[in-house]
Amino acid sequence: MTELNVELGSRSYPIFVGGGAFELALAKMAELRSGKKKVFCIADAAVLKAHAEKLAEISKYAELFEIAGGEGSKSFPMLAEICSKLARHNADRKSAVFALGGGVIGDLAGFVSAVYMRGIEFYQIPTTLLAMVDSSVGGKTGINIPEGKNLVGAFHQPHGVFSDTEFLETLPVREFAAGMAEVVKCAVLGDKRFFEQLEKESKPLGPKHPYLAEAILKSCGLKAKVVAQDEFETSKNGGRALLNLGHTFGHAVENCAGYGNFLHGEAVAIGMAFAARLSKKLGKISDVEVGRIETMLKLCGLPVEVKASVFAENKSAPGNIQREESAEKLMRAMMRDKKTQLGVLRFVVVNAIGETETEEVPQDTVKSMVSEFLK
Ligand SMILES: NC(=O)c1ccc[n+]([C@@H]2O[C@H](COP(=O)([O-])OP(=O)(O)OC[C@H]3O[C@@H](n4cnc5c(N)ncnc54)[C@H](O)[C@@H]3O)[C@@H](O)[C@H]2O)c1
Repeated sequence: MTELNVELGSRSYPIFVGGGAFELALAKMAELRSGKKKVFCIADAAVLKAHAEKLAEISKYAELFEIAGGEGSKSFPMLAEICSKLARHNADRKSAVFALGGGVIGDLAGFVSAVYMRGIEFYQIPTTLLAMVDSSVGGKTGINIPEGKNLVGAFHQPHGVFSDTEFLETLPVREFAAGMAEVVKCAVLGDKRFFEQLEKESKPLGPKHPYLAEAILKSCGLKAKVVAQDEFETSKNGGRALLNLGHTFGHAVENCAGYGNFLHGEAVAIGMAFAARLSKKLGKISDVEVGRIETMLKLCGLPVEVKASVFAENKSAPGNIQREESAEKLMRAMMRDKKTQLGVLRFVVVNAIGETETEEVPQDTVKSMVSEFLK
């Protein structure tokens, strides 16, 4: 088991990674209970089912709220339902909430903890790779509304994160790969040695790979470092925005293809390949570096390109018409993105593997890159 402390002054907290981390979470629940605190565990139903034996002891220490997985649960009705349940179970200001599941449960339970009685103690037991390397670190919590994803939320740092890699053994392969997109992102954005180490591994990382726990910890460490320097995303250049590597184009792909066609991590992988090629177009990196980034993503089972026809209304139109129409659509989506301000497109560009910065890129340059990029 490995451990990392996220340094945020009085709100610093530990992250434990590896087999056995769940037992530590149980010990924490027991400790809280012995201190006369009420403990609640908001858990993904699929995880409870897949790991019934391992998780049986939770109910010794915590009141268990079983929630259906999926984006639909990150909603106002679900938030209200859980808050009512907490109140009916006499949860008070000293109570603690544990989230057991992927990013959906983490974001939802985190937001519940941020607003119930104006904020109560919160712990994460992430069970997807994405949640282990990304959503459980950084303190962003929230829910969706019909007008958009994550439009309602709060910053609420956890008191501890317990990432037990044994959970990943039941995670669908495609979900695991989607989590790897965030691992590769961390290496590309700020750690050349980490990227080289990933290249050196003879087999792609999987749930039982000996390097996995270390890779998760390195990714968390990188994210935590960036977050510590810019906790509330107020930095004008760089800062927390660097974590959006691959996200400007990735979000547009997710949006225009219709949510559900691509997993978030798959769209981010496509977005990273786009950012790498855009960086080459801007004269920052060479074909060799673009190739290394794309090879790494492909090795993880991730896409690095996308067909124009995915976005085109008229699928039987000639290729060049579909490409033009799809490029327009993707450009409009990027302009609407909440990260685009005053019509200025900002990208995280790659100066070298392990070195990135945010940069404004003229719309014409982006548009021609989009047209070139689409297959
Ligand atoms: N707060 C943040 O900083 C942040 C960052 C990135 C993403 N997110 C959010 O995270 C969410 C996506 O998270 P996710 O990718 O973990 O998806 P998820 O929580 O929907 O989990 C994916 C699927 O895997 C299942 N599952 C979870 N753990 C499992 C396991 N161990 N074995 C088998 N099945 C398992 C779930 O039931 C679900 O069907 C999105 O809502 C996104 O907005 C938040």
